[in-house]
Amino acid sequence: MAELAIPPFLLTPGPITTSMTVKQAMLCDWGSWDSDFRAMTRSLCEQLVACISDTGEFVCVPLQGSGTFAVEATLATLIPQQGKALVLINGAYGRRMTQILDYLGRAYVVLDKGDYAPPRADEVSAILQQDSGISHVLMVHCETSSGILNPVAEIAAIVEQHDRRLIIDSMSAFGAIDIHATDLRFDALISSANKCFEGVPGFSFALLRRTALEASAGNAHSLSLDLLDQWRYMNATEQWRFTPPTHVVAAFIQALREHAAEGGVAGRFTRYRRNQQRLVEGMRQLGFTTLLSDEWQSPIIVTFLSPTDHYFSFQGFYDRLKARNYIIYPGKLTVVESFRLGCIGQLYDAEIDGLLEAVRDVMDELKSVQVQP
Ligand SMILES: Cc1ncc(COP(=O)(O)O)c(C=O)c1O
Repeated sequence: MAELAIPPFLLTPGPITTSMTVKQAMLCDWGSWDSDFRAMTRSLCEQLVACISDTGEFVCVPLQGSGTFAVEATLATLIPQQGKALVLINGAYGRRMTQILDYLGRAYVVLDKGDYAPPRADEVSAILQQDSGISHVLMVHCETSSGILNPVAEIAAIVEQHDRRLIIDSMSAFGAIDIHATDLRFDALISSANKCFEGVPGFSFALLRRTALEASAGNAHSLSLDLLDQWRYMNATEQWRFTPPTHVVAAFIQALREHAAEGGVAGRFTRYRRNQQRLVEGMRQLGFTTLLSDEWQSPIIVTFLSPTDHYFSFQGFYDRLKARNYIIYPGKLTVVESFRLGCIGQLYDAEIDGLLEAVRDVMDELKSVQVQP
């Protein structure tokens, strides 16, 4: 039998490094119909809703599949066929929402700020003022392709002022960035199991304003992505409509326990911010430059510009870091070469310091390989 390698650290935006106890929670098989599993689903939904609201105005609809499944299902369920969306784009995940709308055949317009500039309230206001046909505004909370934390409260206020509906893709932010329905108005917030709650991949979820969901009958084009149908079935039976990812749910229940033990959203924010600041400071000392100014930098993931030195190649850098047990992420910018380092998951000072040491060694190695005859 091959020797067991030490598991690598994932410096990525999800899947992320999970705790041993979260992994161990999957060492049991669950019957999807059984009352124990039904109780787990109920608890998962209640705990997620409690993160944003305690008024009964919101419900949680979990869905099998990765985050994109929940984004597509939410847009399909909440935006009527005659509706029209304004999509705020500053990266890959905003762009992906337009792709989804193309598939769904929903009308939309965009405010495209390029790779990393934030959308601002005055720009959104001008578009909404001018186009009364826009029913929904779609935005990404933390645009993971650059790491920018978009001004969600500012946008929510202007959308509410214009009496339109807001849908937030909070995939990589929810669980670590505080967002509460009493502070800002939205109809949907979407996320998944394997981001800031530190579960494993396999399901996603939408937190939906109950009245908006109840009014959505007939909108969805797809049986498996109809969140109203999934919600009604769950209400009636406490079961998922189709085979649920039982082990992933069990892992998530444990992940929620650990999230609460760390101090919930505030506790997680503190650790991730510390990781990000330690990482940025260390990388700057090694000569790297961040894409974003500190003002817009989220504590979730940081984009670094690739050095322009002739000896640097992303693949060489990646392979050598991997050999040292650190998995990093390629960049997703359209204009400049970059790479990304995630700050979320089971990462603490020791892992960040270990990564920085590995980056220094790898850069020395890349240089020395190049200077050899
Ligand atoms: C902001 C955002 N939206 C959507 C997605 C898509 O999620 P998935 O890759 O799980 O389908 C991601 C994935 O990282 C994301 O960061």
